[in-house]
Amino acid sequence: MSDLAYVLRQLPRPHDANLLVGDNPADDAAVYRLSDDLALVQTVDFFTPVVDDAYTFGRIAAANALSDVYAMGGRPLTALNIVAFPVKKLAAQVLVDLLRGGSEMATSAGVTIVGGHTVEDDEPKYGLAVTGTVHPDKYISARGAQPGDVLLLTKPIGTGIVTTALKAGQSHEAHVAEAVRWMTTLNRAGSEAMLSAAAHAATDITGFGLLGHLTDLCAASEVSAVLDSEAVPFLPGALEYARMGHIPSGTRTNLDFVRDRISVTPGVSDLVLALLSDAQTSGGLRIALDPHGAEAFARHAGVDLLAVQVGQIVPRTDRGVQVRN
Ligand code: CO
Ligand code: CO
Repeated sequence: MSDLAYVLRQLPRPHDANLLVGDNPADDAAVYRLSDDLALVQTVDFFTPVVDDAYTFGRIAAANALSDVYAMGGRPLTALNIVAFPVKKLAAQVLVDLLRGGSEMATSAGVTIVGGHTVEDDEPKYGLAVTGTVHPDKYISARGAQPGDVLLLTKPIGTGIVTTALKAGQSHEAHVAEAVRWMTTLNRAGSEAMLSAAAHAATDITGFGLLGHLTDLCAASEVSAVLDSEAVPFLPGALEYARMGHIPSGTRTNLDFVRDRISVTPGVSDLVLALLSDAQTSGGLRIALDPHGAEAFARHAGVDLLAVQVGQIVPRTDRGVQVRN
């Protein structure tokens, strides 16, 4: 993450008054104003399989890519497939299943897949480039969190650890099924709920983990946060798999990266910190809103949408996030 930030800093920065949200690392998608009441939301995401089944992977990758538009409060409209595929090693049916999964997820979101591009590669990779729209005054970025805001989380944490246990052949079927259920749940309901609850700031939780995305949001909003580690919902089995050592390398890198940006109460274990840093695929939204907004949001909660209060925004201190137990 830090290496990539270094590379990006070497590139010329775009100068365009219509670019409302650009390359801030805390934000999920770019927002580009077309007119006074219409802006484009654009994002791209693709990655290597997190589950064995191509159809399920297609669904997860599509839900994950669409999430960055939802995290900005946008409405996704169209998408392009991005595929890397070992044409000589894997059967064509695998590719059909993969794309069918992506297509079905897009359709369920009301999104039309309008094309795409495939390259030959040793390892499959799949995702979408997504285009959506938002009102240029109404998108929700990582900026805007205010002291006194409540932090809500809409999905449990731990998909990186559960899928690592799966790859090691050490996972229970029910635990994987629950992780897959959440990874294939669109953040659409959460996005609509946070718009109606007048949220101040939001991001989705993906590769940098809960702590990484939260420290980024705090930096972007010039505030700090108190995270109540015992309130954070973990996927069933995740803590047990972390204890067994099934912690992905990306999760360890995340924890190394945030160490000097957080303060940790002595009672918080390293295992819990690993979970709070776990690299998520198609994770939930983490939303900052005032207490009234949090109440309004909670009325939308259900089996596919959590509204768990995991902490508060506080005035800026020297550490971005205070992790308490
Ligand atoms: Co994102
Ligand atoms: Co993304």
